[in-house]
Amino acid sequence: MRLQVTGHKPGNKSALRRQVVREYSREGGYMRRHLAERVLVTGGSGFLGSHLCDRLLAEEAEVLCVDNFFTGARRNIEHLIGHSRFELMRHDITIPLFVEVDQIYNLACPASPIHYQHDPVQTTKTSVNGAINMLGLAKRLKIRILQASTSEVYGDPTTHPQTEDYWGNVNPIGMRSCYDEGKRCAETLFFDYWRQHRLPIKVARIFNTYGPRMHPNDGRVVSNFIVQALLGQDITIYGDGSQSRAFCYVDDMIDGLMRLMKTPEDVTGPLNIGNPHEVAIRDLAAQIIELTGSRSRIVARPLPEGDPRQRQPDISRARALLDWAPQTSLAEGLTRTISYFESLLAEPGIRASLTG
Ligand SMILES: NC(=O)c1ccc[n+]([C@@H]2O[C@H](COP(=O)([O-])OP(=O)(O)OC[C@H]3O[C@@H](n4cnc5c(N)ncnc54)[C@H](O)[C@@H]3O)[C@@H](O)[C@H]2O)c1
Repeated sequence: MRLQVTGHKPGNKSALRRQVVREYSREGGYMRRHLAERVLVTGGSGFLGSHLCDRLLAEEAEVLCVDNFFTGARRNIEHLIGHSRFELMRHDITIPLFVEVDQIYNLACPASPIHYQHDPVQTTKTSVNGAINMLGLAKRLKIRILQASTSEVYGDPTTHPQTEDYWGNVNPIGMRSCYDEGKRCAETLFFDYWRQHRLPIKVARIFNTYGPRMHPNDGRVVSNFIVQALLGQDITIYGDGSQSRAFCYVDDMIDGLMRLMKTPEDVTGPLNIGNPHEVAIRDLAAQIIELTGSRSRIVARPLPEGDPRQRQPDISRARALLDWAPQTSLAEGLTRTISYFESLLAEPGIRASLTG
């Protein structure tokens, strides 16, 4: 069979690949398997990245997972090793990468304060140099690229809830600045590549997300409380626990990110993706104690520097543009997350590392 490829711009390998998929698939399924859309997920062995890899594979994509394993865990993706459409590459995105792919999800970056403050210079490099490298790759290949930005770009917000046109209230020289300002600079780079090079970009501002495969000891509130409850330890809240957060279950988040990636080229974001349902930290602790049947007590510690009082996304834009809203209730999401942590804590090594 002679392959006819029409209508692609010279040098646009991604368009060529997609057309090849269409032409061959008319003849049968065989080539389709080999020429499926190839998606690069940076930070693919992390919490969100590993769920994204699962979902992309379920949608017949080929997945190239790139990770330096700074906070990622092999166990998050070990069920994918050997999958015919999954490839794993150990690589640090602060170093340029040359691969052939059709789409990029740029998730690589430590996300919890304990991790991103461990090596703040590397955190800024990952956000900024990593963004430059991934944008350069996307520009060379003329492909779309999605940035996992964060609600932290709003800093300690002075308006509530936060809409995308709020510019934020961020300290440029504090302990959290390596992350907050790194992510803000990455957004700047994404929009400059869009304005200057017409690169199809998508910027998602991710709000607090929880679910199976969160790190057991990275200090994030949901995982912290669940582990403490399962181990029967005191549950620590900071301040009086009246500060509120809104938590999005991981499946809803991945659905939002994938919907954003599929939007028309003029939908660049930034788009808030998160769950607008607020819960006071003290109430969250009480709900986790109830769901785990734990005898843990709630104890208060001083509030750390720069900890925002309230954080809640306005997701009107995501609702309108993606026809998306979170579907998983807090009780349902917590139940699934608790059962993940129960099996994790059944592993003696992990239990010892958390109790020792
Ligand atoms: N989970 C959330 O609630 C949340 C909220 C806002 C934003 N985000 C963003 O989503 C993304 C994923 O977050 P997560 O919760 O899955 O965090 P995570 O720490 O579980 O995953 C990050 C992954 O990136 C990898 N990584 C870090 N630096 C790297 C580098 N230089 N090169 C290659 N890989 C590198 C880590 O090893 C890890 O696998 C991050 O960019 C984060 O800023 C997450």
